Amino acid sequence: MSQQQWDAVDAYFSDTLVGHDPVLEGALAASAAAGLPPIAVAPNQGKLLHLLALAQGARRILEVGTLGGYSAIWLARALPADGRLITLEIDPAHAEVARRNLKAAGLEQVAEVRLGRAADSLAALEREGAAPFDLVFIDADKPGNPDYFARALRLSRPGTLIIVDNVVRGGVVADADSTDPSVIGTRRLHDLIAADPRVSATSVQTVGTKGYDGFTLARVQG
Ligand code: SAH
Ligand code: DHB
Ligand code: MG
Repeated sequence: MSQQQWDAVDAYFSDTLVGHDPVLEGALAASAAAGLPPIAVAPNQGKLLHLLALAQGARRILEVGTLGGYSAIWLARALPADGRLITLEIDPAHAEVARRNLKAAGLEQVAEVRLGRAADSLAALEREGAAPFDLVFIDADKPGNPDYFARALRLSRPGTLIIVDNVVRGGVVADADSTDPSVIGTRRLHDLIAADPRVSATSVQTVGTKGYDGFTLARVQG
């Protein structure tokens, strides 16, 4: 099995089921032109997020880690006209590109990019007494995952779906002795979830254009 094969299969799935969308492709092109790293979710993963948000009947979505707004567009497109997506980004240049991309997608009324450290923005949401989110997508710095998950739980309701990207990273997550802060963060996240009776979760390995990786799907129980 090779990256070349994973790319070919992803291209096949994206061509057949996801289709080509000038707005989404424009968002990626604008992100690349601005020098952002090419680490947005793949098109078929973006569509998965979109479908999960639809299945969830989401009216309020929270994203941690915006980059150029590619996944934010997929998620926000699942919202009703009076829905809300709040996405958190630490890098002003990324936030600026994302705001432009969300505007070009016609989503400036529903999607808001908040600039700052995710931990601070999440604390601010709690202080504001933000209404609970129906879906949370955590995709920022990986050492922060346990903290972001704990804070996301406090912004959740029974039935909220929390998705965490990049929990496999080439398989290193299985190394209990790893000193890599991202691995430690992701393993702590799993320990945290496992110890919390309010959460039911699973993690799934994936291959594709993003290499060998995976995601965690966690549901806040009633
Ligand atoms: N969700 C995006 C990809 C996000 S990449 C997509 O799929 O389209 C991760 C992003 O998290 C980067 O833009 C990075 O600047 C941001 N980030 C990293 N550390 C952060 C922090 N502490 N707080 C907020 N954002 C952070
Ligand atoms: C990286 C971050 C991501 O969110 C991702 O999906 C892939 C790679 C990174 O920091 O390298
Ligand atoms: Mg990611």
